[in-house]
Amino acid sequence: MIGKGVSDVADIDGAKKRIEELREQINYHNYRYYVLDSPEISDAEYDELMRELRRLEGEHPELITPESPTQRVGAAPVEAFGVVEHPVPLLSLANVFSYDELLAWHKRVSNLVSGSEMDFVCELKLDGLAVALTYTDGRLTTGATRGDGYRGEDITQNLRTIRSIPLVVPKDAPKKFEVRGEVYLSRTGFEKLNEERAQEGQPLFANPRNAAAGSVRQLDPRITAKRPLDIYIYALGYADPDLSGPTHWETMEYLKSLGFRISPYNAYAPTCRSAEEYYQRWVKERDSLEFEADGIVIKVNSFELQRQLGTVGHDPRWAVAYKFPSVQATTRLLDIGISVGRTGSLNPYAILEPVSVGGVTIKQAALHNEEDIRRKDIRIGDTVVVQRAGEVIPQVVGAVVSKRTGQERFFIMPSRCPACSGEVVKPEGEVMARCTNASCPAQIRELLTHFVSRGGMDIEGIGEKLAAALLEKGLVKDVADLYFLTADKLIGLERMAEKSTANVLNAIERSKDRPLSRVIFALGIRHVGGETAELLASHFDSMDRLAKASREELASVPKIGPKIADSIFAFFRQEANLRIIEKLRRAGVRLEGEAATRRSLLGQEFVLTGRLESLRRGEAEARIKELGGTLGSSVTRKTTYLVVGADPGSKLEKAKGLGTRLLNEEELLRLLEEANLKRR
Ligand code: IVH
Repeated sequence: MIGKGVSDVADIDGAKKRIEELREQINYHNYRYYVLDSPEISDAEYDELMRELRRLEGEHPELITPESPTQRVGAAPVEAFGVVEHPVPLLSLANVFSYDELLAWHKRVSNLVSGSEMDFVCELKLDGLAVALTYTDGRLTTGATRGDGYRGEDITQNLRTIRSIPLVVPKDAPKKFEVRGEVYLSRTGFEKLNEERAQEGQPLFANPRNAAAGSVRQLDPRITAKRPLDIYIYALGYADPDLSGPTHWETMEYLKSLGFRISPYNAYAPTCRSAEEYYQRWVKERDSLEFEADGIVIKVNSFELQRQLGTVGHDPRWAVAYKFPSVQATTRLLDIGISVGRTGSLNPYAILEPVSVGGVTIKQAALHNEEDIRRKDIRIGDTVVVQRAGEVIPQVVGAVVSKRTGQERFFIMPSRCPACSGEVVKPEGEVMARCTNASCPAQIRELLTHFVSRGGMDIEGIGEKLAAALLEKGLVKDVADLYFLTADKLIGLERMAEKSTANVLNAIERSKDRPLSRVIFALGIRHVGGETAELLASHFDSMDRLAKASREELASVPKIGPKIADSIFAFFRQEANLRIIEKLRRAGVRLEGEAATRRSLLGQEFVLTGRLESLRRGEAEARIKELGGTLGSSVTRKTTYLVVGADPGSKLEKAKGLGTRLLNEEELLRLLEEANLKRR
């Protein structure tokens, strides 16, 4: 083999040319797809171009350059990230939280540049990770994190895997320049990632921000490549020579023309008022965005004014973040406490270093159950993300794994009830651990609060505090004891004077007449909520019948499955529960079939004659039956009422003869109305 043949050289030249063509085409289609979100070719056609490029590069490895679209992924994992000095520091932003504060900021900056007209650009403040991308001679040379603003980490290989970051820029771009932007994960990308992690048994990311940061700071770029990261560029760091426009807005347009992905939500704002309108719009609509934003950024548009305003500390004077009311915050998980529920469930909850979330200080948050804690890999001592949504109890979303010190402790469910030291069991297939001691004071306290609650017996005046005092003084040992309280027992308890005592006793008395469904619900049978209680009440019509029902009978009630049936069955097999029901009966609490007491036409027979005007006959009959009345076909001594319509028949004569009570249509309607009212 002496040297390369002429044909080989021609071959290489041909390959080189084709490779260049392919790269250009692929870069263009990448841009259409990832930056403009408007592809021109199908995925299959794109794949075909990539395949051809890979094949040619495989045949001519010497022609591979780092800018080739095949080289986005492929760098080897590193031990640690290198350090990058930022020639122009990456600043942070001062915050404002209200329109007044925004106006105050405007006034301050206006005074510094008095006389100058000032306009703004509004942008959404993405909640991701700030990065700086440096391009030299048309190629991406460095990608870095913000770090402390002056020195960041070199994450070039990871950022190269993000398809919307151009690896090359047009020839007329400045020789050297730096752009800045926010790398983020979309909500759907975040959910998908967490789903995969859950399946693999890996700890979940607390929010898209943490997931994006964790993904970008992977030592192995192949892992980063698998994460659906994206970027919006929001600033030009510097450019040499500076070809950008005189304003921020024009510069963004210029960067767009170089192929960078610029947020379509950016808006020009001539005044603070229009910035406020932009803010109000996104406060309302932020949930509709495909990514999480934690506020807006308002920037002075003119670079000349920006230069005059300069910076103070780490923050530029020429921009502010106008934050959305926050719903999440991070704090430390000091400990995990356990509360005992009314059915004995041991409910873990987070004890937090107090933190303000959207203006409310949070010290505790829900943690659901042991498995949930394990699945989210939350450890005592962790820095955790807490979230408050609407009125619901704050939740611990997850741990910030990167803040671990190694001092964190795993949570272990105690084997004894923290309230009564009773035995704790966790039945197969169930998520909750339970205290098995039926007379556990914590359980009884919860049960008592449930019993008197609105949806239950609705006894006003007995709140958590009084319930606890009654139990503590031994005045009440179970829910039925409430009905045996007297004034002398109550007076003298904390905050119980004569008037309040009388009120409570009155409320207790009134509660004796609650519908059966409420009594069933109030008993606190596991799995029996308000709706199930209503089904049971209307089906069994009496506490006794319900208590005696077999498993099969219970399970045959529509919408009641075997699990609920088992739980009800077990409840009525416990001596203690039957004793409570007996006590309630003795106290005069209505345990009778709702229908029986409610159906106030029970035992009354109706006979109809003639035409009814406003009711159809069928309808009238149905309503009588519904209220417990019966219908006869002819008038006899047993007939309670004859309903007389227009053109009555011979029945009227017969009724007159027997002295049967007559009702015209109007009277019937009134009777039905009254009977119906009694049902409530
Ligand atoms: S401008 C001096 N624009 O917010 C200007 N920042 O504290 C500083 N951020 O971590 C950045 N969206 O990464 C700017 N449209 C946007 C932004 C934005 C998100 C982040 C930025 C930085 C933080 C500012």
